[in-house]
Amino acid sequence: METRAGLSISPRDVEILDSIPEPVVIVDRLRTVSAANAAAVRDIGVAYAGRALALSLRHPAALAAVEEVLAGGQTRSIEVTLRTPAARTYSLVVAPLQGAAGAVLIFHDVTSERRAQQMRVDFIANASHELRSPLSALVGFIETLRGPARDDPAARTRFLEIMANEAGRMTRLIENLLSLSSIEADEHVIPQGRVDLGQTLAAVVDTLLPAATAKEMRIRTEILVTLPPVAGDPDQLVQVFRNLIENAIAYGRTGSEVLIVARPIERMQEGTRPGVAISVQDEGDGIPRDHIPRLTERFYRVDAARSRKLGGTGLGLAIVKHILNRHRGRLTIESELGRGSRFTVTLPSA
Ligand SMILES: Nc1ncnc2c1ncn2[C@@H]1O[C@H](COP(=O)(O)OP(=O)(O)O)[C@@H](O)[C@H]1O
Ligand SMILES: [Mg+2]
Repeated sequence: METRAGLSISPRDVEILDSIPEPVVIVDRLRTVSAANAAAVRDIGVAYAGRALALSLRHPAALAAVEEVLAGGQTRSIEVTLRTPAARTYSLVVAPLQGAAGAVLIFHDVTSERRAQQMRVDFIANASHELRSPLSALVGFIETLRGPARDDPAARTRFLEIMANEAGRMTRLIENLLSLSSIEADEHVIPQGRVDLGQTLAAVVDTLLPAATAKEMRIRTEILVTLPPVAGDPDQLVQVFRNLIENAIAYGRTGSEVLIVARPIERMQEGTRPGVAISVQDEGDGIPRDHIPRLTERFYRVDAARSRKLGGTGLGLAIVKHILNRHRGRLTIESELGRGSRFTVTLPSA
């Protein structure tokens, strides 16, 4: 706590101000800092009482608010983004001190709220864009079929096929968006069921065999019979493995193999609980290193055009991540360019 005469601030006042976890600064009528609590010193670098406020708070709008209040104005509330010591956004309230002796500045850190808001805005923009492109294609083909291609049966067959694909894309996208929002809605509810992953994996592999066969790919499974059950939501775990195996098929080379290995592990990466590790490994082109940390972001793709061509929505791994969060599980991604990738899920046992 830094204080100075001018405004009389007692040691007890200092203690009280220092116990406030967010930055509080008091200035006198001469715009000199009379007191800056510990949080102000630490978070916004207002270090010296006795110094002009403008020397440590280099923010024109904040200083203008202080001027207005000192000139007899009402309490002002603004949002300020400070670059030093670290870039953070604060909601700042500037209130007059009694008797117009000065002003008090109270900072409330809203950085993470603003970041979350920005992510929502980006998400909606991305989702709308992703929905609009198949819709524009549909509208375009409807016009063509009503006009120039009206009497052309060959064109009609071809266009209807494309339209069916685009409608399928929209359907998948909407299904993915709905499952993301329902997963998010109960992300904090620990799933109660017991799931036999051996059975789950076998069922998922069965449903994906046609897709593998279409690319002349083999799916090989090594599932240890001693696999303990995991605590989980069976439908959501199906979604996890369906997404990973679908990706392995989509991004694996024609004629190559997908290997699925499930084994018990003595303990999870964090903590001491035993668990199960399931890896899905493909022989594809692999993923450049700097993309790996971002793959679970919504709509993040290494190659958007390729993903769309393969029928992807860019939401599969985001869904996987949210389901694993709910299950206290983990996803690790290893990849070697030109050789392939391995996605490993660990889940705590029941
Ligand atoms: N097995 C894999 N091999 C190579 N790249 C992959 C693999 N799995 C995922 N990716 C990359 O991660 C991106 C995001 O995956 P995902 O969320 O499932 O979306 P989608 O498959 O719909 O594009 C993909 O677009 C692709 O670039
Ligand atoms: Mg996918």
